[in-house]
Amino acid sequence: MLDGSEMSKKMSKETKVFDDRLSERIDELRWLYIELYENDWMFAELIGQMGVFYGDRGEDLKKLDLYREEHRDWYKKNDKLGMMLYADRFSKNLKGVKRHLSYLAEAGVNVLHLMPFFDTPKGESDGGFAVKDFRKVRSDLGEMEDLSDLTAACHRRDICVCSDFVMNHTSDQHEWALKAKTGDGEYMSRYYFFDNEEITRQYDETVPQVFPSTAPGNFSWVEEVNHFVMTRFHGYQWDLNYHNPRVFNEMVYNLLYLANRGVDIIRLDAVPYIWKELGTDCRNLLQVHTIVRLIRLITEIVCPGVLLLGEVVMEPEQVVPYFGTVEKPECHMLYNVTTMASVWHTVATRDARLLRKQIDTVAELPKEYIFLNYLRCHDDIGWGLDYGFLAQFGIEEAAHKKYLNDYFLGIDGYSNSRGEIYNDDPSTGDARICGTTASFCGIEKAVSEKDEKAISKAIDLDVMLHAFMLMQSGVPVIYSGDEIGQQNDYSYKNDPEKADDSRYLHRGKFRWDLEKKRASGKSVEGRLFGRLRELEKIRNKHKAFLSDADVWTENAANESILCVGRYHDGEKIYGVFNFSENEKTAWFDNGGAYRDLLSRKLVPMKEIKLEGYEFRILMEESLPD
Ligand code: GLC
Repeated sequence: MLDGSEMSKKMSKETKVFDDRLSERIDELRWLYIELYENDWMFAELIGQMGVFYGDRGEDLKKLDLYREEHRDWYKKNDKLGMMLYADRFSKNLKGVKRHLSYLAEAGVNVLHLMPFFDTPKGESDGGFAVKDFRKVRSDLGEMEDLSDLTAACHRRDICVCSDFVMNHTSDQHEWALKAKTGDGEYMSRYYFFDNEEITRQYDETVPQVFPSTAPGNFSWVEEVNHFVMTRFHGYQWDLNYHNPRVFNEMVYNLLYLANRGVDIIRLDAVPYIWKELGTDCRNLLQVHTIVRLIRLITEIVCPGVLLLGEVVMEPEQVVPYFGTVEKPECHMLYNVTTMASVWHTVATRDARLLRKQIDTVAELPKEYIFLNYLRCHDDIGWGLDYGFLAQFGIEEAAHKKYLNDYFLGIDGYSNSRGEIYNDDPSTGDARICGTTASFCGIEKAVSEKDEKAISKAIDLDVMLHAFMLMQSGVPVIYSGDEIGQQNDYSYKNDPEKADDSRYLHRGKFRWDLEKKRASGKSVEGRLFGRLRELEKIRNKHKAFLSDADVWTENAANESILCVGRYHDGEKIYGVFNFSENEKTAWFDNGGAYRDLLSRKLVPMKEIKLEGYEFRILMEESLPD
């Protein structure tokens, strides 16, 4: 126990930490806040509350903050491996996830992305993204205490926890929405209400639809108050009005509350959408960047150990600005969405030229920018590719999107894929695709046909794509189940709440029955799990995989083959990937001696023959002087 004077010394030391961080940032914080809101009173309230949240922050988290402040690059190495999962799909609830941490550790995972677990109305939850209460865990998943317990258990194992922060909208059952429905002006002003249909029509002219077929329209009629409310996602997800400083302040408090439960990475869901202006597409507006910068400053003051991950599923020119600048950073991490989509394009076309260009583009960005690399996530894949580049090969956007969807449906391009369409928009001819990595790679078809040769080939493709993912700088993230080749789950069709949303196709329950089979090196599960672990260990071991390594591509003299080089501090590694199902040969001018890090054989970097979907990870041998 500390006595009175020790306690006050400790408190003043702690207050000093907060005060120092605040005084370093207050000018910019105030400037941005007042520019946006012109409201000193609300700004003062914000600062006061930041102090309160800092005071409430646990000792262990404060220690972690100090450590991470001193080691600012703590998340920028080559030792992070993420996995995203829904607690209920994985193991019933938050306690269940805690019980299974040893499995995650065995899979090498040290960044756990827990999909949204907040209270949501049953049947109108959008997979957890329609939040009813930002301070309450959905009852079947547990309680807030379980979250704190889980994050603490993760920290003991050196696992960071990532959580979604659904900041663009609330559920129409959220307390604010319920009060707005009674006609309370204060709460109506937290959303976008219009009694004039003409204005909604004007918005519709410039605002593209997010879910054109499952939830058409950008507005919903609210009978109780005879007004339209803006709902860009589903009708039950009401867009928050960030023009109102009360909304900003309260959402920041919710974010800090979450951070104080031990969450290390906060995923800013749908962040490009948070600011709206009539006459614009209401995406990526300048004020969004002001808000993200404000949040960055606030977290740097209250909880500097916490990282911001922006969910920006946009074309590359729109994604990168969310990093901010090196002097005035916004998000710490962003998704490498275009690379992900380009990978699947490459699978369907067996032509790696677009992917090569994409790797070169990312390689030119400052090395401070950290991307999350992934093959699949809980959402569909939209075909946001560089069609300007593809045009030189005679590829036209609409026809190509159709081809890609048909390929992953398994009906064109000699495909073995199994997938389903998501949100086709008859007005634009656009559509997206859903399915698991394994099903896209042909494992589902091959297993159902009991075709051993096809199974091996599909596993080879699946492993190669993961090897490519691990070749990139940043944080690789596995979608739960992919490590054992989990296939599409069609059972969602029998659930009326989910049947119209094909994203549930790849949100099936984790198959613990199949997981058991991984003990056998002959099973699909065992082969995949084992090969992925081997690759992850190679990534961890070699400094050429550090995020600040040089990255480039090489001409392999074959369109189906992608060659990615990495160099750091005397270590040079090449990844050579054959995206065709047929044997191909890469030709290099290099001639140096390279060690195949998987087979341990010496390989001259000249003529490299690769079986269909084969890849090599080659490290330059340092020859004796
Ligand atoms: C994000 C989520 C997606 C959700 C949407 C609306 O894009 O990833 O699943 O439907 O936000 O919150």
